[in-house]
Amino acid sequence: MNTQELIIVLDFGAQYSQLIARKVRSCDVYCEILPYDTPLATIVARQPKGMLFSGGPASVYEDGAPHCDPKIYDLGIPILGICYGHQLMAHQLGGQVESTGKHEYGKTELEVLNSDDLFAELNPQLISWMSHGDQVQSPPPGFVGTARTHNTPIAAMANPARRLFGVQFHPEVVHTPWGIEIIRNFLYRQCGCGGLWTTESFVETALREIRATVGEDRVLCALSGGVDSAAVAALVHRAVGQQLTCVFVNHGFMRKGEPEEVQHTFAETFNLNLVYVDASRRFLKRLKGVSAPEEKRKAIGEEFVRVFEEEARRLGKFPWLAQGTLYPDVIESGTRSAAKIKTHHNVGGLPEIMDFKLLEPLRNLFKDEVRSVAAELGLPPSMTWRHPFPGPGLAIRIIGEVTEARLAILREADAIVIEEIKRAGLYREIWQTFAVLPPLRSVGVMGDHRTYSHPIILRAVTSEDGMTADWARIPYDVLERIANRVVNEVPGVNRLAYDVTSKPPGTIEWE
Ligand code: XMP
Repeated sequence: MNTQELIIVLDFGAQYSQLIARKVRSCDVYCEILPYDTPLATIVARQPKGMLFSGGPASVYEDGAPHCDPKIYDLGIPILGICYGHQLMAHQLGGQVESTGKHEYGKTELEVLNSDDLFAELNPQLISWMSHGDQVQSPPPGFVGTARTHNTPIAAMANPARRLFGVQFHPEVVHTPWGIEIIRNFLYRQCGCGGLWTTESFVETALREIRATVGEDRVLCALSGGVDSAAVAALVHRAVGQQLTCVFVNHGFMRKGEPEEVQHTFAETFNLNLVYVDASRRFLKRLKGVSAPEEKRKAIGEEFVRVFEEEARRLGKFPWLAQGTLYPDVIESGTRSAAKIKTHHNVGGLPEIMDFKLLEPLRNLFKDEVRSVAAELGLPPSMTWRHPFPGPGLAIRIIGEVTEARLAILREADAIVIEEIKRAGLYREIWQTFAVLPPLRSVGVMGDHRTYSHPIILRAVTSEDGMTADWARIPYDVLERIANRVVNEVPGVNRLAYDVTSKPPGTIEWE
């Protein structure tokens, strides 16, 4: 990991922390998110070149509001406070923060008063994204206001001598069009970063680290067909070649053509040791009579572990299990307090019951970075850009019992959906698109004949991370083409409905 240039994002409970971290990474600078109460000694030991304080829902003057150690400002490390972080910096250094009763929310014109530092080489009139109730009334001693809006006199402040900066607005969101330049100015002009965090540098360092960690040992990897496990397999394969064996368990709930593509890519193109296990019969049998969503998820998860264990035992001793854990999983597992909505099945569930040491070379990466790594390693775009797909696959998109006949209907409909979305050039801007088969039938008419068949529900969402999502505004003509083709080409389907529910309150998957 090339962490010569580490930036720390101190998290004050914001929905924006991950976004801030991703924006820093997109400026080719490595960063990590740490909780706001991380001890000062830990921060100093990491030798960060700079820090960003995230936003957060609290008011700085409330009891129990998250505060960092105020000695942090004396470390001589440049800091940029965002929203709550800006207010906290003002509060802790002797400025005044108050609720004015005037909420500012949404796109707001920003007037830059000083272009020396954060706003260097930017237009003095900018659009900024605001979302706050409190604001800095007077900056701390040594600070000057560097930008204002109609309602917020201190929309940005700076103490250039101490390299401390604050902005009330959110430079990390797309609605602040020049926000990334502001972050870049902070990283490059104030922190002295040189942009060492690139895909090539990541791959180079990861290869070295994998070789050093694994030595002569053998590594096992479960392939799922998704980009994360594919990237792990490609990376570990490049690092230790034939010491790696991949197991691809086809549970029979894959999308059309997926098992073939995975086998072709890894066994033929990469010449990698691939064990292909066709367990589709076994899974179908296990799901017979099962229709409750959680029961279905559990059954698939357990069966998967069983099949994988059998294969692992058959293949002999493997000290290492490589898996595609990503940075959002790492952050989330440290802070998980949410109610359980669904039991997730993925290869991440394996080590709990198995005797492996874990190799997780992607654990510091975001999804978009994994895609770049996958491309760098030579995986085909069809795999690199593939939409996320749940571990239990099509089985949780068939509402009610999963049968071979219902799988065939869904798989065909799904393939048409994806083909048409790709043809319309919408595949990359849509986070996920797929078909759902509900357990109902309705009346229709085709060629003068009455039909009594299944509907297909189309789901397509836009999202940054799958945690929240909005339904995709697919043009009517594309919807029309999908509906026509699904109804005409998939036997047993006579209707198509479009799910226009966001998440929340809906979830992305139907089960
Ligand atoms: P929901 O339906 O909870 O889905 O809004 C959020 C994201 O998670 C994916 N998903 C899963 N991924 N194993 C996975 O690896 C699972 O069991 C699973 N269930 C849902 C879903 O496709 C979406 O991207």
